[in-house]
Amino acid sequence: MPDKIILIAAVTEDGFIAKNENDNLSWTQDKHLFKQQTTTSTIIVGSVTRSIIGENLPGRQNIVFHRSDDPAKVLETISTEICFIIGGSKTYTTFLPFITHAYLTIHPIAFGRGIKLLTGESKLPELIKLKSIQVPGETGLYQDQYKVCIKN
Ligand SMILES: NC(=O)c1ccc[n+]([C@@H]2O[C@H](COP(=O)([O-])OP(=O)(O)OC[C@H]3O[C@@H](n4cnc5c(N)ncnc54)[C@H](OP(=O)(O)O)[C@@H]3O)[C@@H](O)[C@H]2O)c1
Repeated sequence: MPDKIILIAAVTEDGFIAKNENDNLSWTQDKHLFKQQTTTSTIIVGSVTRSIIGENLPGRQNIVFHRSDDPAKVLETISTEICFIIGGSKTYTTFLPFITHAYLTIHPIAFGRGIKLLTGESKLPELIKLKSIQVPGETGLYQDQYKVCIKN
């Protein structure tokens, strides 16, 4: 079981993570930071996002999550100290009860409609902000890093 289970997402100002289910995330500007942070760890990816990516992400243990999988049991199989939940929305929501941290890069754009970070009425647990780091090479773009304070 990992010590840290980190939800990591690029989010618009109005709370969306994608324009639609097929969004290839070309609007995100933090992919290099994502790669740097997730390499050597385990990533858990929903089957829809995995098909958009089209391949396993190199240098990381990739776990593709399906609805028939048990999230607690999946986490128990992980031997790395850190595990990133890399989305999408359904997968973030499924792993919400287990996350210890959230890394959110709020991009200065709005979609008006699309796929929200979480599905239905789900909400992030109470978070404490640890720090905000600049996305390397991207003026004015920051990743906010939070620790879960109280579980929902
Ligand atoms: N902005 C970002 O940082 C970011 C990150 C990742 C993804 N995204 C975007 O998110 C979108 C996809 O999100 P998504 O929510 O549609 O898909 P998803 O979470 O990537 O994958 C959904 C699949 O995961 C399984 N699953 C996990 N939890 C489930 C649940 N509670 N209920 C039912 N199935 C569940 C099912 O797999 P089976 O059908 O195989 O059983 C389901 O079809 C894409 O547009 C992608 O680009 C954005």
